[in-house]
Amino acid sequence: MASIKENREFWDRDYDWAQEGHEWSVAWGGADMQWFGTILPRLHRYVPTGTILEIAPGFGRWTTYLKDLCTRLLLVDLSRRCIEGCRKRFSSFSHLEYHVNDGYSLEMIPDQSIDLVFSFDSLVHAERDVMEAYVSQIASKLTRDGVAFIHHSNIGHYRFYFRFWERDFLPRRLVDYLKRKNIVEPTDHWRAFSMTGKAMEKMVKKAGLFCISQEYINWGTMPSHLIDCVTVFARADSLWKGRTDWLKNKEFMKEAYHLRRLGRLYGEKGLTAKG
Ligand SMILES: C[S@@+](CC[C@H](N)C(=O)[O-])C[C@H]1O[C@@H](n2cnc3c(N)ncnc32)[C@H](O)[C@@H]1O
Repeated sequence: MASIKENREFWDRDYDWAQEGHEWSVAWGGADMQWFGTILPRLHRYVPTGTILEIAPGFGRWTTYLKDLCTRLLLVDLSRRCIEGCRKRFSSFSHLEYHVNDGYSLEMIPDQSIDLVFSFDSLVHAERDVMEAYVSQIASKLTRDGVAFIHHSNIGHYRFYFRFWERDFLPRRLVDYLKRKNIVEPTDHWRAFSMTGKAMEKMVKKAGLFCISQEYINWGTMPSHLIDCVTVFARADSLWKGRTDWLKNKEFMKEAYHLRRLGRLYGEKGLTAKG
């Protein structure tokens, strides 16, 4: 369970933000390789645009790219430390606005003002109550043809698998050995167990919205464990209304591996060398 309280304590107080999140892009060969090779190909038809709302930007790993793709960029994060980090980092840009929230609320965002809601590598730690709150509010924040692009957890689909290895059915030393050898998933990546792609689809529908696509992906896990999902949705009266496309992408980590190889030649200098 990754509660709001745990998220706030961890990201606001305990986490060492010295590398501003770049440490999570190492598998891709750097944040630029991850953005241009993994995120932008999935996002490109929705940008550039007018106003972007980024939920949970951390220290701005994606904000730095998003800011060049819009006329206005609103940042909302439950961590004051992260918002202050972004404020400092992007102080020379006047089209950014900064908000600390309670982990649920988008009340500071005017209705029908957002052309793109973006969140990546953050709400994977958010449980169902948080996702429900955000999705239902996004419904009233989007402009008529606005789109939400949200990366969230699907680990609930594999809860029996992950829970099994935490129970004491087998000797702990054996389980630790199997994890070390990657025969068993060594970590659940602190994913939110109450979330699944199916639950997200239901929330989207319940909020009167329409699912454009859902891509199920593995995230540092075996190809058979698609613990994350990227759901793209819009208003049901938008130009996007039509068929929903689904993809179970077991190759997602291969994409990272490929980009990391390319990153040695074409990536941001220095970042790959950091490890
Ligand atoms: C793993 S960091 C990722 C930050 C950024 N997206 C990146 O990829 O570098 C997770 C971020 O999500 C924020 N966060 C977690 N739960 C949240 C919630 N319910 N509402 C807003 N922000 C949240 C944390 O404060 C933190 O900044």
